[in-house]
Amino acid sequence: MKTAQGLSATLTMEVARVQAIASLSKCMGTIPSEYIRSEDEQPAATTQHGIVLQVPVIDLRDPDENKMVKLIADASKEWGIFQLINHGIPDDAIADLQKVGKEFFEHVPQEEKELIAKTPGSNDIEGYGTSLQKEVEGKKGWVDHLFHKIWPPSAVNYRYWPKNPPSYREANEEYGKRMREVVDRIFKSLSLGLGLEGHEMIEAAGGDEIVYLLKINYYPPCPRPDLALGVVAHTDMSYITILVPNEVQGLQVFKDGHWYDVKYIPNALIVHIGDQVEILSNGKYKSVYHRTTVNKDKTRMSWPVFLEPPSEHEVGPIPKLLSEANPPKFKTKKYKDYVYCKLNKLPQ
Ligand code: OGA
Ligand code: NI
Repeated sequence: MKTAQGLSATLTMEVARVQAIASLSKCMGTIPSEYIRSEDEQPAATTQHGIVLQVPVIDLRDPDENKMVKLIADASKEWGIFQLINHGIPDDAIADLQKVGKEFFEHVPQEEKELIAKTPGSNDIEGYGTSLQKEVEGKKGWVDHLFHKIWPPSAVNYRYWPKNPPSYREANEEYGKRMREVVDRIFKSLSLGLGLEGHEMIEAAGGDEIVYLLKINYYPPCPRPDLALGVVAHTDMSYITILVPNEVQGLQVFKDGHWYDVKYIPNALIVHIGDQVEILSNGKYKSVYHRTTVNKDKTRMSWPVFLEPPSEHEVGPIPKLLSEANPPKFKTKKYKDYVYCKLNKLPQ
């Protein structure tokens, strides 16, 4: 019988997709060593049980606008994450997005998936792939993914969109279109919450040029969910990230020294504050530190949409927020330079 090491060596000769490693690992009841996290990261050892703090849940249908602004602003300062219910995106649009994404990962032959794989060594983020960043000690996350932009039309490159299932394109375009109103409302609340005019933050962020980058995360069942992680702990580089998961628990956030599960609420949108809103707000809003765990028997999937600046757009603290008493805490720089430093672990 092959050892876990031998298994991993065999698989790395080709591009090892976690989906393939998962089917082999299932028979063996063990996982290759590069998926075993160091002890201070292992979910079984580091998750807070008992007192369960809950990420704020905000009802967007509440007619009291001032109240909503306060709830969103407070959640963004304290947690950097909240869930939205009654957000106006029809349940069907979410269900369709999830259905076609699941079909791509589970029913499209592997060779066809590889046709839209990310080019190895290229800086281009779009495409099907495994693991975005080189992690410390060569550890890997138990997850495959697909990235492609869904908005604005000028930024979309259909080369990275699955051709199958045939309804993939329509479902993704519909979801992208439906998201825009929610995005406007979140930016407006964040702006008002800082004492700015409603339109000021989205304007500073690039307005109609804000890029909607969709990622699909595919976390296959993992025989040792106590030892592995899906996505390693990080903050998102985006302004904000709007995510829908499937029903399998897995997202965790770090607050006051502990990791907490973010409870799954059907059809809710999970909104993460990313690094760029932290910068625009000069640190008033916090980008949330988060990670994902995996499940022994079930496949977890999630669909985050990263709302990002165009790569040449300069992001810095909004000047109106600054004063002698409140000097800038962040440099103003092009988004592409921010990304370069973050991915290469260089100081910002
Ligand atoms: C990510 C991420 C969380 C999730 O892909 O950046 O944090 O729930 N995903 O899958
Ligand atoms: Ni993330």
